[in-house]
Amino acid sequence: MKSTVIFALFVVAIAAVGQVASDVVICNYEKFDLYDAMYKKRQDDFCVFQNVFMSTDVRYGDFMASSLDYQKIAFTNSRFPIVPPSLYRNFDDIRELYVRRCNIETLRVTRLVEKMYAGSNQITSVSIDGNGSNNLKELYLESNMIKDIANLTNLPNLQVLVLENNPKLGNTDFAMFSRMTKLWKLDLENTGMTKIINTLRLDLTELKRLDLSNNQLTYIDMHQFHSFPKLENLWLSGNKMYFMEMEPIRAILPEIRSIVIDDNYWGCQHLAIISKYMLDNGIIIRQGECKSRNIHKVCCSDTTDLVDNRYLIEMKIRSESKLEESVKTLERDNLALLDTVEEMRVQLNSLILNYTAKMEEMRQTAIAARPVADPVEDPDSLESAEAEDYAYYESEERHKVVEAEAIEVTTEKSSAEDVSSEQNRVE
Ligand SMILES: *[C@@H]1O[C@H](CO)[C@@H](O)[C@H](O)[C@H]1NC(C)=O
Ligand SMILES: *[C@@H]1O[C@H](CO)[C@@H](O)[C@H](O)[C@H]1NC(C)=O
Ligand SMILES: *[C@@H]1O[C@H](CO)[C@@H](O)[C@H](O)[C@H]1NC(C)=O
Repeated sequence: MKSTVIFALFVVAIAAVGQVASDVVICNYEKFDLYDAMYKKRQDDFCVFQNVFMSTDVRYGDFMASSLDYQKIAFTNSRFPIVPPSLYRNFDDIRELYVRRCNIETLRVTRLVEKMYAGSNQITSVSIDGNGSNNLKELYLESNMIKDIANLTNLPNLQVLVLENNPKLGNTDFAMFSRMTKLWKLDLENTGMTKIINTLRLDLTELKRLDLSNNQLTYIDMHQFHSFPKLENLWLSGNKMYFMEMEPIRAILPEIRSIVIDDNYWGCQHLAIISKYMLDNGIIIRQGECKSRNIHKVCCSDTTDLVDNRYLIEMKIRSESKLEESVKTLERDNLALLDTVEEMRVQLNSLILNYTAKMEEMRQTAIAARPVADPVEDPDSLESAEAEDYAYYESEERHKVVEAEAIEVTTEKSSAEDVSSEQNRVE
C-alpha cells in the first residue's frame, strides 16, 4: 500500500518534470552585479531566477518568490523566446527586469518597469504597455536584431536608450526621439547608419552623450547636431568619414568636450585642419592612439584624400535651393520698389499740375493787377519778378525730383548690396 503511494508520488514528480504546467520556479533574493548607464559596476538586491529553460511551453511555469512584492527581477543562465507572461502576472510591480542573454525574440515592457536590461538577445519586436503613460527610464537593447523602433517613440520618461549593435536598424531620423525630452544618453553605435538625418523641430535639451561610432558615416556637418545644445560627448570613431564641416562649433555646441574621430578615412590634409580647429577649441578628438601615419595621433592617409563627391554634391544642392530663395525674396522686394516708384510718379504729376495751375493763377492775377495805362512802368520788371517766382518753384520742384531719384537710386543700390551679400553668404 505504502509503496503504491510512493510510486504515485514518483509518477507526479515525473509528470512535473516532463510537463512544465506544474513547474514552480522560485527566485533567490540576493546581491546582483550589473552595470549602470555610465558603465559603473553596481550591486543591488534582486530576486534572481536561474536555469529557466522554456521554448513554446513558456506560458506554463509558475514564477514565485518568498515575497511577490520584489520589484527587481533577474534571470541568469536562462532561455525563453518571450519573458514568461506568468512572471508579469505574479509580480505585478516589477520596476527593474534583467533578462540579458536569454534568447528572447519578442519583448514586452510592462507599464511600471523603469529599467529594462534586455541586451544580447534575438529581439526583433518590442511592445511597451501603456503607450505614453509608461515609466521607462532606461532601456538597454544592445546586440539584438531590431529593425524598427516605431514602438519606442512614445517614452516621455526615458533618460537612457541603448540600441548599440542592432546593425539592421539603418538610418534613424533623430525626430524619432522627439518625445524623449529627458534623454541624456543615446547610443546608436553600429546600427547601420550611413548618414545623419535630423528633422527634429524641438531641441533635445538634456542630451549629453551621443554615440554614433562604428557606422558608415562618410561626412558630417556640425549644424546637423544643432538640436542638442547640451551635447558634451560625441562618438564618431570607426566610421568612413573623410569630411567634417566644423565651424562655428562653439556656437552650435557650446558644451562640447569631446568629438572622437579615430579610425576613419581621413586624408591627412583635411584632418590637420579639423583636428587643429578642435584642439584649439579644447575638444578631445581621440580614444586610441595611431602608430602609423597620423595627425595628432589620429590615423590618416596622404595618398587617399578620398575622392568622394557625395558631400560636395549635397552641399551644392543645398546652396542652390538657398539661392533660389534669395532670388524669390529679391523679386518680391523689386515689385515693392516698382510700386513705390509708381506712387511717387503719380504724386509728382499732381505736384506739377498744382504748380502749373498756381503759375497760371499768378499770371492771371498779375495781368489783372497791371494798371491799364501806365507808360512809365517798366514792362520787364513784372516779368522778372514772375521769373524769379518761377525760378523759385522750379528749383523746389527740381529738388523734389532729385530727392525722389535719390530714393530710387539708394533703394536700387541697397537691393544690389543685398544681392552681393547674399552671394557672399551662399559662397
Ligand atoms: C509594435 O508593437 C506591437 C504591439 O503593441 C507588436 O505587435 C509589434 O510587433 C511591435 N513592432 C515592433 C517592430 O516592435
Ligand atoms: C499613443 O499616444 C500617442 C500620443 O501620445 C498617440 O498619437 C498614439 O496614437 C497612441 N498609440 C496608441 C497605440 O494608442
Ligand atoms: C495741390 O494744391 C492743393 C491746394 O491748392 C493742395 O491741397 C494739395 O495738397 C496739392 N497737391 C500736392 C500733391 O501737393
